[in-house]
Amino acid sequence: MKLLITGGAGFIGSNFIHYWLAHHPQDHIVNFDKLTYAGNLENLKDVEGNANYLFVKGDICDAGSVARAMEGCDAVVHFAAETHVDRSISDPEVFVRTNILGTNVLLEAAKKLKISRFHHVSTDEVFGSLPLGTPDRWTENTPYAPRSPYAASKAGADHLVRAYHATYGLPVTVSNCANNLGPYMFPEKLIPLAITNLLEGKKVPLYAPGNQVREWLYVTDHCRAIDLILLKGRPGETYFVGPGNPAFSNLEVVKKLLKLMGLGEDRIEFVADRPGHDQRYALDWSKIKAELGWEPKVGLDLALSKTAEWYKQNESWWKRVKSGEYQEYYKKQYQGQP
Ligand code: NAD
Ligand code: TYD
Repeated sequence: MKLLITGGAGFIGSNFIHYWLAHHPQDHIVNFDKLTYAGNLENLKDVEGNANYLFVKGDICDAGSVARAMEGCDAVVHFAAETHVDRSISDPEVFVRTNILGTNVLLEAAKKLKISRFHHVSTDEVFGSLPLGTPDRWTENTPYAPRSPYAASKAGADHLVRAYHATYGLPVTVSNCANNLGPYMFPEKLIPLAITNLLEGKKVPLYAPGNQVREWLYVTDHCRAIDLILLKGRPGETYFVGPGNPAFSNLEVVKKLLKLMGLGEDRIEFVADRPGHDQRYALDWSKIKAELGWEPKVGLDLALSKTAEWYKQNESWWKRVKSGEYQEYYKKQYQGQP
């Protein structure tokens, strides 16, 4: 099989390429990525020489280069997106362009080229926000209710993917996943920002009061779920992918990290909250378990320690990422603190 992976130089996409080449060594991969601030070819250094792997620099909004890259592929796994909520609050336009228009360009090409499977990677954030302290969970039939420009643009993409199935019969699948953690995650998101700040002797900027709840899944568990959906999922279906852990507040997760790294709670700095901050996400992922036999394998404590260890061992990776444009963004976001 030949797969077109969009956004393969980002966090989950690069983990997925490593995963796929290790588990399906006979397959061919075309990694199509624009290399925005979040795309980093260093993530793929060890597969560069693999004869079954090809990198193509391109923008998913550019129909010509998308068609050329997709030609001859059997399946598309679509990761490419603008992904950081805080950036979507300060600059929503690029989110609409990449996440909605870019997805439409890919769908059109997939329709014309009669691609046999289009898998769209999405997020739980499209369902909005659940109140704290309730047992409610979302299911694949819950109506969409996005609240940030990021979530709204991913929701738009999800709707287009489903529409291409209903209208044109394109064989699509969609996965909506909880927050991921693991190697190669850009250090603007909470977990890698916290770990790298702590390794640099800085504090962790926690949006006050830190009681918001996220569910965290180790990235390889996500890759395994996409593999199963791609090969065994039913066309037109959506599958939720989430962890088996109990839910923890951001404060609890940061405290776990501090304990793991042997540091005190004085390393937490409460900062002004994000506007419209979603309170809680919770997915009921019983469908993928019942239909495809998927279950997460890595619990949160192990995921945090594997992730912290990876950042400790790969200081030169994140030091380079944290320089340059990222510094500018960082200063603007936190106004110099902490
Ligand atoms: P990321 O920000 O680390 O990487 C995104 C990648 O897409 C980068 O390599 C970037 O260069 C590329 N890209 C951006 N715009 C592009 C364009 N116009 N054309 C081509 N490439 C472009 O993202 P991630 O965290 O790896 O997320 C991947 C996917 O998974 C996204 O669709 C995201 O919505 C979804 N998702 C992420 C999480 C999470 O916790 N990170 C959870 C659930 C779902
Ligand atoms: P993030 O990693 O940005 O993922 P998302 O907003 O997509 O869930 O944030 C995870 C949680 O951590 C979220 O509730 C916001 C919070 N957070 C902080 O407290 N401080 C930070 O500096 C960041 C980036 C996030």
